[in-house]
Amino acid sequence: MKMIYENNKEFHLTTDKTSYIIKVLPSGHITNLHYGRKIKHRENFDSLYQNFNTPVGLEVNYSKYIDDFTLNTTKLELSTYGKGDFKEPSIHIEMENGSRVSDFIYESHKIFQGKYKIEGLPHTFENTTDQKGKNRDEVNSLEITMYDENSDVYVILQYSVFYYKDVITRSCRIVNGERGIIKIHKAMSMNIDLTHEDCELITLEGKWIREKHIQKQALSKGVYYLDSKRGVSGADHNPFMSIKKKNSDENNGECYGFALIYSGNHQGLVEVNPHEIIRLQMGINPFDFSWTLHKEEGFQTPEVIMTFSYEGLNKLSRNFHNIINNNVIPPQWQHKERSIIFNSWEAVGFDFNEKKLLNLARNAKELGMELFVLDDGWFRGRNDDTSSLGDWMVDDKKLPGGLTQLCHRINEIGLHFGLWVEPEMISEKSERYRKHPEWAIKLPNREPSLGRNQLILDMTNPEVREYLYKTLKRIFSSSNIKYVKWDMNRSVTDVYSNYLESWKQMEFHHRYVLGVYELIGRITKEFPHILFESCASGGNRYDLGMLYYMPQTWASDNTDAGERMNIQYGASLLYPQSTLGAHVGSNPSLQTLRNNSIESRFNVAAFGILGYELDITKISNFEGKVIKKQIEFYKKHRKLFQFGEFYRIKSPFKSNQSILMVVSEDKNEGMIGYYQKLQESNMTLETIKLKGLKEDNQYNLYTREQFMNIEQFGELINEFVPFEVRTNGLKGLVHKIVSDNYLFKGENQRIEAYGDELMYAGFKPYPQFNGGGYNEKVRYIGDFGSRIYYIRTNRTSK
Ligand code: GLA
Repeated sequence: MKMIYENNKEFHLTTDKTSYIIKVLPSGHITNLHYGRKIKHRENFDSLYQNFNTPVGLEVNYSKYIDDFTLNTTKLELSTYGKGDFKEPSIHIEMENGSRVSDFIYESHKIFQGKYKIEGLPHTFENTTDQKGKNRDEVNSLEITMYDENSDVYVILQYSVFYYKDVITRSCRIVNGERGIIKIHKAMSMNIDLTHEDCELITLEGKWIREKHIQKQALSKGVYYLDSKRGVSGADHNPFMSIKKKNSDENNGECYGFALIYSGNHQGLVEVNPHEIIRLQMGINPFDFSWTLHKEEGFQTPEVIMTFSYEGLNKLSRNFHNIINNNVIPPQWQHKERSIIFNSWEAVGFDFNEKKLLNLARNAKELGMELFVLDDGWFRGRNDDTSSLGDWMVDDKKLPGGLTQLCHRINEIGLHFGLWVEPEMISEKSERYRKHPEWAIKLPNREPSLGRNQLILDMTNPEVREYLYKTLKRIFSSSNIKYVKWDMNRSVTDVYSNYLESWKQMEFHHRYVLGVYELIGRITKEFPHILFESCASGGNRYDLGMLYYMPQTWASDNTDAGERMNIQYGASLLYPQSTLGAHVGSNPSLQTLRNNSIESRFNVAAFGILGYELDITKISNFEGKVIKKQIEFYKKHRKLFQFGEFYRIKSPFKSNQSILMVVSEDKNEGMIGYYQKLQESNMTLETIKLKGLKEDNQYNLYTREQFMNIEQFGELINEFVPFEVRTNGLKGLVHKIVSDNYLFKGENQRIEAYGDELMYAGFKPYPQFNGGGYNEKVRYIGDFGSRIYYIRTNRTSK
């Protein structure tokens, strides 16, 4: 199939539903003629090229040999400083003679099957394993070599087309010629100039325990940056942005999405210039960055995934989910159902011994969980967060038989075993630090700032990486470890490497990331059977670079259901639920001190990789019985929850509810998550328009069987239980005993309807409790309450 048409240095890159057309201009620069909805191919698209055709006041004419041509009014695929483009350049280089002017002109191109090569960095890859219809990949690539004769430097623009995924990836490579040393000050992975048509910018903003909140803003003239200077991609601004037309919404209208596959300091730039050109860039943050290239050396930028949808943001997200699930995460974990985790952190923190852990494990097994994860605190001296990172010797007071015995016993109970590590860190209070203080990132004569009482190891130093490789190999081979949580709990300060020469210090941040990639690449290759989950105090490094090596991420340290509802909704813009670790935590929440019912905590976590981390040795009978039922339900529908196609229906950032839905690939099954913030009084009747169903299929819709704690009902409970409950004084104790044991069923709504009816007329849930009474046709949702509805075809269309 033809994906890249070439005619007279004009290139039409096509996917199933999009067109990307670029052209070499007479000046040798490359202009963008169209990126958006697919258009029919024709011999040439000259008519899409616009120029002022007269001199433009204030602008500088590029060359006296070309009339009326200015770079500032041209949409460019590669932009530099110094020849009349006054927008932000995508590549900025300093030559040996001190000049910073460069001008790259088309030299040659090649079109080939498969992907362009990227070495040392995570990237999308052609999926050769999935041979099913539309998931099968057809990838073609285009590489255009641009050359600046004056400085003898090449830039290779790289494009790959994933036809059925509606994705085009971009990257670029800078290669120095033979003339002298150059210094790269800025090397963005992508530059794309579009026409401004009343557009809005969407980004994912956050901080600790509040990651990935959706931010929307109108684009106006000026320059807007989203970036990280933390050394990691950061919780502040995820390396993702979307530009949409103002009237586009979740289901309709045009929108573009851009995501960088990178885990370090990044920058996304949006500039609207006076001529209403929107310039978009993504790449390594040029702040505190420069890179020296000696003769014939090259520099590869990270890769950007671009996608376009004219069917709104839901489709844009599904395009991203599709490519991430099939072309980014490691092949052995693709579509592989993940185990239900019990994690020890919120349950016991640092305070445990083998007996306590085995007790938790027995309870976890009894409740139906599958994988026991021992979080922080298992190594010698680690009784709080002030010490011992870097040593990684098992604490034989807590675990007299070591990890081997613990793992063996946990396996005997019938659970897999997993372990927490934080390899990139070092505590000042550690043997390793006493031996090698120079391994920490810090300046020789300046007291380093501490984050969570710890320092970071200098991952640019091969000796450090080798030590970590050997240490981790020893630990991971010591027992039957099936899962590893790879944590990273502080951001980089006191930037200095004792290993790098002084002229390489500005390369530090990128070299740190390359060092991390090298280490995790080696380790994950050595232990392909271990499921790795990355974490950085939750979502401080939730990015596509990490997902390339580790298929899931602990999305946030916040397990409060109400807060997670926002975080997971925002994350879904880019990240598929198969990548999102989500646990049922303690109550009240350790992060907000809010009470959330056990059902709501589950209903939120179920739309991710489910786990539990509350102290399950201290839960009530009620909670125990409910958890068992939750786990049975999740196991039955695990594939749908983890890999179903995702739809956002109602946004918690705009309303009192969050509603989302997943649908199986064959559209025969679905789950609807319904979450509420605050109980409203006398609430209006609701309609939920479902998504992604087959119009002609007949479906049954059921409420997932959910239980309420009768304490929620106060005195009102006596209206609907078959016994009398007193709620005050000593008698309140009886109330407590009853509520701890009695499974009071919520309403159970059942509907039979065709797909078109459910999507276009909508599903009408029972009314919410409005103060007028309660019966089996009323939903009592309450503050931070929720429901899950399950939908299944009973008759398929022909
Ligand atoms: C970080 C992680 C938590 C937990 C602790 C352990 O905060 O995000 O999940 O692992 O470290 O110290």
